[in-house]
Amino acid sequence: MSATFTGRAPGKLILLGEHSVVVGHRAIAAAVSRGTTVRLTDVEGPTRLGESSIQDDRLMTALRAVLPAEGLQVDIFTDLPVGRGMGSSAALAIALLRARAAREGRTPDFAELHHDGFLVERVFHGNPSGLDHCVVAMGGAVLYRRGEAPAPLQMPSYPVVVLDSGVAGDTGQLVAGVASRRPGVDPALMRLGELVELALRSLHDPHALGGIMCEAHARLGEIGVSTPDLDEMCALALQNGALGAKLSGAGGGGVVLALCPDGGEALVQAAARRKIAAFACRLPEA
Ligand code: MEV
Repeated sequence: MSATFTGRAPGKLILLGEHSVVVGHRAIAAAVSRGTTVRLTDVEGPTRLGESSIQDDRLMTALRAVLPAEGLQVDIFTDLPVGRGMGSSAALAIALLRARAAREGRTPDFAELHHDGFLVERVFHGNPSGLDHCVVAMGGAVLYRRGEAPAPLQMPSYPVVVLDSGVAGDTGQLVAGVASRRPGVDPALMRLGELVELALRSLHDPHALGGIMCEAHARLGEIGVSTPDLDEMCALALQNGALGAKLSGAGGGGVVLALCPDGGEALVQAAARRKIAAFACRLPEA
């Protein structure tokens, strides 16, 4: 029997601050319990991909960025929707690094996860802010600014519903698209940054937080990363009891995050009637 080693990491949802975090504003995000497990098995010959619930042309390049060129089979299992803004590549990166360290008989520290996680994230996203893999590595809720040490954030845990557009967004292209629309979109990016600061003063007020989320979605539309489907899903959420709803992640598809203080059952049912995949969870999860 060959030796096997596993690593696991959660996905994430961005409460506020996607895209504006790329240009230096703060963002709030939290880990979710769905996630990714990587299994490494010692084998003869070049490192190769075995079973994988992530299909992506860039996968081997990402594996080569952090694994030895020889001697491993890599199996990947995830229950995250892939490419939907829930941190599937970041979860892959951190799970991979945890499995690599387990094989070496050690636990990786945050500095290693941060540094090497970025090598994997760059393969998928070009010039990411680093938010996703920091949140995934830390767990819980996190306040993040590019270039600074991320800080754990104490906040109440709220019931939310995640609505999946069923369409993958390409984070690298979406971030590049926003960059190409600057300086025209700078006022909206500035406002997205301000909304994070407002939210930090309203963390215990779900009604205020919901209003801030709705405005954030409108600004994300102004910078060109929402879609008619995402706008409709936000409207559906608000019609079914949500206090606020916005796209979460890079947009262009991906998911909508709805703050639903009553648990969100009505929204999950309304989504099912429209054949929209939706699930309820808490943010941050306990
Ligand atoms: C993607 O999950 C979040 C973005 O802000 C990109 C990034 O932070 O690198 C859109």
